[in-house]
Amino acid sequence: MFITFEGIEGSGKTTQIQNIAEFLRSRGRDCLITREPGGTRIGEKVRAILLDPQSKDMDPMTELLLYKADRVQHVKKLVIPSLSSGKIVLCDRYFDATVVYQGFARGIDVKLINTLHKLILDDLKPDMTILLDLAPEVGLARAWKQIESGKRAGFETRFEKEAFAFHQRVREGYLELARLEPARFRIVDASKDETQVCEEIINLLCLNNGLGLKE
Ligand code: TMP
Repeated sequence: MFITFEGIEGSGKTTQIQNIAEFLRSRGRDCLITREPGGTRIGEKVRAILLDPQSKDMDPMTELLLYKADRVQHVKKLVIPSLSSGKIVLCDRYFDATVVYQGFARGIDVKLINTLHKLILDDLKPDMTILLDLAPEVGLARAWKQIESGKRAGFETRFEKEAFAFHQRVREGYLELARLEPARFRIVDASKDETQVCEEIINLLCLNNGLGLKE
């Protein structure tokens, strides 16, 4: 089972993935936590280039292709082998982030993004996507608080530094994708406190027959 977590900056994906992995492991499930960009040794190097504020003059097409390159490496070397060995893969961002950030927010043709995904990764889609929905002003305030306190890396802030309108397009883009694919997406209100959000996600996972978590 391939489960992805999406949302704007500061929506709490990383914390919730840890909570969900802990829950699944307590129920005897073998799971892998991974992320994009990153997740592989090569991917972490690509991540450093993509998120470095000094990469601010990066062309949008360069950005798109670097995210795609990271994904090919990640899916082929880690995601598919882990799924094949029966693990539940919990991934912090995936393909939907490209559609939303590079497509809706940067303005690259979404058809091109979809076509590339079909060509290079056989259109591999998650079984379930948890969208942690949050107003950008709240998410950005949380993200900057974490950066200033040292909990998040200051050298990875290229996207946090984008204009507010960019983050609004990202949020709207995610909600649009969720409307288009209701069978795959689950929207969770990320403005609630950490425990409530976690409980909500666990309830959604329990409703998913593929995970066999019902009592
Ligand atoms: P994060 O791992 O801290 O969420 O940071 C990853 C950043 O990369 C985030 O700002 C969203 C951005 N991103 C894209 O623009 N396109 C993508 O395809 C992915 C996976 C992430």
